[in-house]
Amino acid sequence: MNLNQLSDTFTAVFNETDYRTFFAPGRINLIGEHTDYNGGHVFPASITKGTYALARKRVDDKIRMYSMNFEQLGVIEFDLHNLDYNKAHDWANYPKGMLRYMREEGYDISSGVDVLFYGNIPNGAGLSSSASIELVSGVMFEKLFNLTIDRVDLVKIGQRVENQFIGVNSGIMDQFAIGMGKKNAGILLDCDTLKYEYAPIELDEHLILIMNTNKRRELADSKYNERRSECESALALIQKELDVQALGNITSEQFEQHKNLIDNDILQKRAKHAVYENERTLEALKALKAGDLTEFGRLLNASHTSLRDDYEVTGIELDTLAEAAWKQEGVLGARMTGAGFGGCAIALVEKDKAQTIIEAVGNIYEKTIGYQASFYEVSIGDGAKEL
Ligand code: GLA
Repeated sequence: MNLNQLSDTFTAVFNETDYRTFFAPGRINLIGEHTDYNGGHVFPASITKGTYALARKRVDDKIRMYSMNFEQLGVIEFDLHNLDYNKAHDWANYPKGMLRYMREEGYDISSGVDVLFYGNIPNGAGLSSSASIELVSGVMFEKLFNLTIDRVDLVKIGQRVENQFIGVNSGIMDQFAIGMGKKNAGILLDCDTLKYEYAPIELDEHLILIMNTNKRRELADSKYNERRSECESALALIQKELDVQALGNITSEQFEQHKNLIDNDILQKRAKHAVYENERTLEALKALKAGDLTEFGRLLNASHTSLRDDYEVTGIELDTLAEAAWKQEGVLGARMTGAGFGGCAIALVEKDKAQTIIEAVGNIYEKTIGYQASFYEVSIGDGAKEL
């Protein structure tokens, strides 16, 4: 799909030729999984796949939205003055939620819009197609209505849409990565303070592969919320002796000293993951800065193992991909990325072995799971913007 095809479709659907074009990426997370809502660190990067929005202001109060990814749903129409969640509006609840909360927060969006969306992030692949549509919508409203919005505020509105409008209790990582992303850089973000730094991703003779299980994560949301509340319970137990606000504020030494307070095996495993994963994330930044890709790869593997055994969010599909990758020559490390339960894994691999690795891992996956995985090379691009 190219921009000319999007343009032709905009004209065919809305009978107009005048529009502006916006883009928001998807993201991968290098390391720091299920740490964001625990007040720990994450290390994501925005990718060049994402969501496009072609949009124009209307003179009335109608909002008309069309997605080329959901053509069968046709044009979804609602009114600027009725922005309640509506199940029948399906995917359009994401931009609707953005519009609603932006208006609630005082941004003067005073007329309707016609918008065409097209996304090339596979849905449900754990690459944050939902945060991508939130942020492309946010930037679109910001620019069309000449607003000036601090980017971190827009990121927070995106998270609010996810939490309150859609009902997934997610952290800030995805919206932050997508709103604040930068070409060829990862973002090391402290989710407690929102302090962040960009770290150049210089991989020399290596590249990052995305390995898609092609298993959609339909059940992810309920398990996701379950993990989050398990961490809250574990924290409450540890707070009996430690004066901390979040699992991400606890060092592994402190955890080892006080873990017996968490007198439930499952809760203790969940907390262990949150604490150690946070430390691994900081170590990974150090390794990357020192150019030590071998150590970086080792940390990726340790992250996957912890998500498999202690946090229990991987599943046979992601484990098959990661474990098959670990066995291949030229793979420095591999792990699931995103929420888990399906979706994608990433692998850091030697460039000249990438094709052989894809074939070998692909064969093992198909034999074990019964259908094919997909593989793409990652390129890291900019955050949400007008094109
Ligand atoms: C999803 C959520 C994020 C984060 C990851 C797990 O992508 O949206 O906030 O919690 O899962 O690291």
